[in-house]
Amino acid sequence: MISFDKEKCVNCGICVDACPFSVLLRGEDVPSFRGEQYCIKCMHCAAACPKKAVLWNDQPAALEKSLPKIPDDFSETLEGYLQTVRSYRNFKPVPVEKELLKHVLELSVWSPSAKNQHPTNWIVINDEAKLLTIMNLILAYVKESGNSLEIADEYEKGNNVVMGSAKTVVIAHARTNAINPAVDTAIAMQNITLMLNAHGVGSCWAGYLTRLSNVIPEIRELIGVPEGHQIFGAMMAGYPDGERYLSVPVRVKEPKISWQ
Ligand SMILES: Cc1cc2nc3c(=O)[nH]c(=O)nc-3n(C[C@H](O)[C@H](O)[C@H](O)COP(=O)(O)O)c2cc1C
Repeated sequence: MISFDKEKCVNCGICVDACPFSVLLRGEDVPSFRGEQYCIKCMHCAAACPKKAVLWNDQPAALEKSLPKIPDDFSETLEGYLQTVRSYRNFKPVPVEKELLKHVLELSVWSPSAKNQHPTNWIVINDEAKLLTIMNLILAYVKESGNSLEIADEYEKGNNVVMGSAKTVVIAHARTNAINPAVDTAIAMQNITLMLNAHGVGSCWAGYLTRLSNVIPEIRELIGVPEGHQIFGAMMAGYPDGERYLSVPVRVKEPKISWQ
C-alpha cells in the first residue's frame, strides 16, 4: 500500500501528476490515495518524488541508490552494443554462474510489462541429465510427429539446434490469463540477454524449445510448468566457446516503415 511520510512530503503534487492512472489525489497535507484496486504499483510516484516521501508498506518506496551518470557518448555505445550482441550456441561445458543469473533475473523486473503485472516465472535448468532427457523427448516427438524433422537431422550431424551445447537453459512461463504474457516475457528475456552479454555470457533464444515444450506434456511435467501457464520463451546460455564475431554484418532485412 502506498502512503506518504508526513515529515518529508512537501505536498508539491509532483507524484499526483506522475501517476498514470490518477490513483493519487491532491490532499490537505499530503496526497491521498484513491485505493489499492486502482494502483498498478508502477511506483512512478516514488520515482518522481523529489523528497523520497513515498512509502510502500510503510517503508521508503525509492531505493537508496543514486541514478547512474550516463556518459555523453552513451547513445553511440548503446547502438554499437546492440549491433554486436549476437546469438551464441556454442558454449564451454559449464553452467552459468548461479549468482550472476540470479542477479540478471532479478533485474529483469525493471522491464516494462502490461499493467505492471510482471507475470513471468523462470525455470533455470543446470542439470545436464535433465537437459538430455528434454532433448530426447523432443527428438522422439519430432520423429513420431514428422514436425520439425530438421531438429533430428541436425542432431545426427552433431548440431543441436534446440539448445546448442548449453549447460544452462532458462525457461520462462506465465499464466495465460495475464494481460500480455507473451510480450512481457519477451521484453524481460531480451533485457536478460543484454545483461548477460554485458557480463560475457552468451545466449540464444530457444524457439524450438519454447514451442515443443508446450506440446510435449512430459516436458511440462518434468520441469514443473503449472496448469494454466504457457511457456512463452526459453534461452540457452553459457560462456561462448569458439564463437567470435569481429564485424557488424549488414542486416539483410530492412525495417518496413510507414511514416504517417
Ligand atoms: C523468438 C526467437 C526464437 C529463436 N529460436 C532459435 C532456436 O530455436 N534455435 C536457434 O539456434 N536460434 C534461435 N533464434 C536465434 C535467431 O536465429 C537469431 O536471432 C537470428 O538468426 C539473428 O542472429 P543474431 O541474434 O546473432 O543477430 C531465435 C531467435 C528468436 C528471436
